[in-house]
Parts: sequence; C-alpha cells; structure tokens
Amino acid sequence: MIQAAILTVSDTAAKDNSYDKSGPAIQELLVSSGKYDVVLTNILPDDEHMIHDVVQSWAQNATFPVDLIITTGGTGFGTRDRTPEAITPLIERPASGIVHFLLSSSISVTPLAALSRPVAGTHGKTLIITLPGSVKAVKENLTALLSANLLDHAIDLLR
Ligand code: MTE
Repeated sequence: MIQAAILTVSDTAAKDNSYDKSGPAIQELLVSSGKYDVVLTNILPDDEHMIHDVVQSWAQNATFPVDLIITTGGTGFGTRDRTPEAITPLIERPASGIVHFLLSSSISVTPLAALSRPVAGTHGKTLIITLPGSVKAVKENLTALLSANLLDHAIDLLR
C-alpha cells in the first residue's frame, strides 16, 4: 500500500473543518482505488510558513514515512494563494512532467485551469503534488492521475 498524506489549504476550512470538502474528496478517491492508505491529514489557512513547515515535517517524518503528499488549495492568483511558494523550497527534484500533465488534462476540461500554478516533485522518497482547491478540480486532477497510474509508478521508482 502507498502511504499518503493530505493537506487542505483554506482560510475558511481552517476556521471550521466542516467546510473542507476537497480533502475528504481526495481521501475517498485514493482509498477507493484500493492502493492507498491515508495516514495523515491537516487543514491550514493560506499561510506560507505553516504550509511549508507541515509539509516539511511530513516529508521528513521517520516515524510515519509517507510516499505521497497531496495538497489542495491556494494554487491560484488570489492575493492569499501561496501554496506553490510554500512548497517550491521543499522540492529537491521538480516533476515538470506531472505539472504539465495536470495542466494539460485540466485545460482540456476548462481554460480556467490555466489559473492554477501547480508544483510537483520529490523530497527524499516522498512525492509532493499541489492540486487546486475546488472539489471539481480535485476530482478531475486526481482521477486523471489515478487512471494514468502515474502516481503508483512514480512511487514504485522512488522506493
Ligand atoms: N482545474 C480543473 N481540472 N478544474 C477546474 O475547475 N479550476 C481552476 C483551476 N484549476 C479548475 C482547475 C480555477 S477556477 C482556479 S482559480 C485555480 O484552479 C486555482 O484554484 P485554487 O486557488 O483553489 O488552488
């Protein structure tokens, strides 16, 4: 099984967890594929330092090592959207192919996908991917990744 962690980035959901629909949507898609255990979840406001520190602690956690970290939210052009800036310093090896895949498959659904600024890459043996915040975007992006078997193949190579 692949050990996954999910971070929801949303000022609204950080104040009231019941507003987080995207984190649970990711969890549902991963678990229902039968290949993933979701071992860590968190909800944070759009705070660059908090996002950086939580993702760093997950990627470097020797007690609960995770293969995959997926974030949702904060990738756009809103003034508080800082997820790519928080994650970029943690990426040791950028995965521009995954970024391209996310953007091209999403743009074929809606041109608004060009307003997402995703980053992806590896930190140690952990693959980190940033998804947009809406449930619709999360489902479109993650379904595309899962149906292409991109994540499990990448993680096999990292092990
Ligand atoms: N990607 C897909 N596949 N489907 C979508 O509906 N919405 C876009 C984009 N990516 C969308 C998408 C929109 S409207 C925005 S503003 C950006 O993701 C950024 O979202 P975020 O700031 O919530 O991360």
